[in-house]
Amino acid sequence: MGTPPQGKQFTILGTGVSLPDKVLTNADLERMVETTAEWITDRTGIQERRIAEPDVSTSVLGAQALRNACDAAGLRPDELDAIIVATSTPDTLFPSTACWVQRRLEVRGMAAFDVNAGCSGWLYALEIASNLLAGGHSKTIGIVGAEVMSKVVDWTDRSTCVLFGDGAGATVIRAAREGDPPAGLLSANWGADGNLAPILYQPAGGTQKPATRATVEGNEHTVHMEGKEVFHRAVRAMASAATRALKSARVTTDEIKLLIPHQANTRIMRATCERSGIPAEKLYSVVHRYGNISAASIPVALHDALTEGRIERGDLVVLTAFGTGLTWGAGVLRY
Ligand code: UT7
Repeated sequence: MGTPPQGKQFTILGTGVSLPDKVLTNADLERMVETTAEWITDRTGIQERRIAEPDVSTSVLGAQALRNACDAAGLRPDELDAIIVATSTPDTLFPSTACWVQRRLEVRGMAAFDVNAGCSGWLYALEIASNLLAGGHSKTIGIVGAEVMSKVVDWTDRSTCVLFGDGAGATVIRAAREGDPPAGLLSANWGADGNLAPILYQPAGGTQKPATRATVEGNEHTVHMEGKEVFHRAVRAMASAATRALKSARVTTDEIKLLIPHQANTRIMRATCERSGIPAEKLYSVVHRYGNISAASIPVALHDALTEGRIERGDLVVLTAFGTGLTWGAGVLRY
């Protein structure tokens, strides 16, 4: 397809994750709700997920993942020019979880803010960060996806509680320097349709429906989801965003090394792969071991793919996501 456009040039200096030790298996869930391990595996591909301890909030996991990513990058957290945290399960409604991450890392001064775009959040954050670097506003940015979904899941609702897990992934990126090999986002494609907000949301706790005894008793501080509707829209959104990103990067599916989609469900990921014409063997999945960790899913999967040697410098990777909103985003990344 000719020479790909340069896009936004940056280098991924390091990645890191933080995953709670506690493992919740499908067999454990059989004892909690009316389900079977077989149903969960067949319909979702998930075999186990990690669950945070009660005193662990999103910023605890986020800060640890970012510290690990900084260690891998060979720099200190105080050398970052900005910290962006993508999350739907913030420590507090305000301030941002990024500020709590700063506090936990004992750093100050750099910009710190959250991106609330559900499971697409980390990709949104990557797009924002790449623009901050391209605009010369920052040189080095820490991008975190972190979630403690277990604290907003209704543990009596079998159609949602089996899906989610907790964890965080972080990536440290640096603006391209002269002489750096080409790397960065060749293209990005993102969007949202807020008209679909009610198909996946947490009804209470914000200004639409502040917390009251009734909202707590009515279980309105938990994930409400129309699963089937989300499923179908997810496949369409992720596939078309990926296809458009490939087209504007002028990259063919043959040229890409891996597809790393948002890790929600094996069936969704496979259908996305098929719809966007990407060979099934290029699909990278970790959903069996972590479940759906929302905004953390792509940075955790990216970290694992790098750790397993599935991606090398110069390789092209397609990232694609969808989430509450509904939001979607995709990008062609040269590692
Ligand atoms: O990051 C975005 C987050 N959201 C998602 O990724 C969710 C997208 N949606 C999905 O992944 C799928 O819709 C689910 C996995 C949630 C459900 O799979 P499905 O094939 O769409 O099943 P369904 O909703 O059509 O339910 C089929 C049956 C129902 O029973 P009836 O009405 O046919 O008798 C459900 O009540 O499966 C039942 N069911 C379960 N059975 C055993 C729902 N959850 C469970 C369960 N165990 N955990």
